[in-house]
Amino acid sequence: MEQKADIAVIGLAVMGQNLILNMNDHGFTVVAHNRTVAKVDDFLAGPAKGTNIIGAKSIEEMMGLLKRPRRIMFMVKAGNPVDAAIEQVLPFCEPGDCIIDGGNSHFTDTIRRTRYLEEKGLLFIGTGVSGGEEGARHGPSMMPGGSVKAWPLVKDLFTAIAAKTPDGISCCDWVGADGAGHYVKMAHNAIEYGDMQIICEAYQLMRQGLGLSHAVMHDIFKQWNRTELDSYLIEITADIMAVNDEDGAPLVEKILDAAGQKGTGKWFSINSLDLGIPVTLIAEAVYARSLSALKDERVAASRMLAGPAVSFEGDIEEFVEDIRKALLASKIISYTQGFMCIREAAGEYGWDLDYGSIALLWREGCIIRSVFLEKISAAYRSNPQLVNLLLDDYFTSIIISCQESWRRVIAKAVELGVPVPALSSALAFYDGYRCEKLPANLLQAQRDYFGAHTYERTDRPRKEFFHTNWTGRGGDVASGTYEV
Ligand code: 6PG
Repeated sequence: MEQKADIAVIGLAVMGQNLILNMNDHGFTVVAHNRTVAKVDDFLAGPAKGTNIIGAKSIEEMMGLLKRPRRIMFMVKAGNPVDAAIEQVLPFCEPGDCIIDGGNSHFTDTIRRTRYLEEKGLLFIGTGVSGGEEGARHGPSMMPGGSVKAWPLVKDLFTAIAAKTPDGISCCDWVGADGAGHYVKMAHNAIEYGDMQIICEAYQLMRQGLGLSHAVMHDIFKQWNRTELDSYLIEITADIMAVNDEDGAPLVEKILDAAGQKGTGKWFSINSLDLGIPVTLIAEAVYARSLSALKDERVAASRMLAGPAVSFEGDIEEFVEDIRKALLASKIISYTQGFMCIREAAGEYGWDLDYGSIALLWREGCIIRSVFLEKISAAYRSNPQLVNLLLDDYFTSIIISCQESWRRVIAKAVELGVPVPALSSALAFYDGYRCEKLPANLLQAQRDYFGAHTYERTDRPRKEFFHTNWTGRGGDVASGTYEV
């Protein structure tokens, strides 16, 4: 059998098919395989007709067609299917071969799989692939991590098929060891949750709060897309506002307000709790989806729980501009929190990450692509040790210029009874982060009062712990100072 294929792809669902076609466009010879073999024939006779793509009916045949060292990419569902696929190809692998998982796998699975395959003398890559069907076909954002030695094996192929920034830089670069690529993809998805939720809250304010029509909202989102908010998600929101159902009414209003989720936003929120990083906006975005899913309960509650009998009074145009600024300020908070968590994760899991490069990976191709990411990249490029994005001059000045509008929007939303959990939690984070003295002194006193949990003092060095017998009855024995 002639070993002529550059890479094998297993999994011919839409993402797999499109990625193969993209690789073919860039001059790579791909061998395609699928568990249900009929799909291989359908693919070859359909979208792959007239290309150099080769079909393989079995794993053995597929492996025989590959150049050495072999590169085998899985585009299968995350979870057990990835482990099952690994076990299927393992008997045919030779030391130095490289297995690549292009699904939305949990980063801890990727850490485990990297170790497992490296122990067998193989290489493993877990890569985030973002951009949906369109991205996979014409240029996704790719976030590979795994066995460091595997990068030179896939670099040319991955950087060729990935999206490019306006300056021609590929939106694919090595992220870091073992689970780093899938961690960064999880962060991407979580930020996507945040971006989508704050856009949805802006829409709710304009629709419920101001009573604006979809045609007007279409124009507003279009106009916002010519500002710092210029992004794919604002662009598609403008498009959605303009689409009518067969009866001429806006289609979006006929869609049931119960959000789905596949879990990456939840994973990131859980991880942020484990790491102790306040990723409040994204967590609120996940909870907002959960609340939306309680549709029947909400319908019943809406008939019993009254809101304020207030309607908007004021200048609509000015308030719409306030909403835009609230959205921008909240977006800055969301990315700030996202990068805080990525940075903490790097320390926790031992990854050497380049934050400026990560921001550029998301500049094009992916769902959160935006002009804004260039500014984040520039901030980290000019100061790789930047502790917090909010402390970069550009972001400090924008957030300060937005804050009056932001506060007006939250105050008005509260007055009108319009829920804005993400926009308001972002403001609460801002006020907390810039607060020299939070009330945690009282909290520590309470903990010490009821449980002798001890506290540190402002007039003593850190890590010296004190206990007070607050009532005269509790005794002087302090409980251990530890964190779970
Ligand atoms: C992407 C998307 C992709 C997927 C989301 C949807 O980067 O191309 O993020 O991965 O569309 O995972 O996630 P939810 O179903 O959780 O909204």
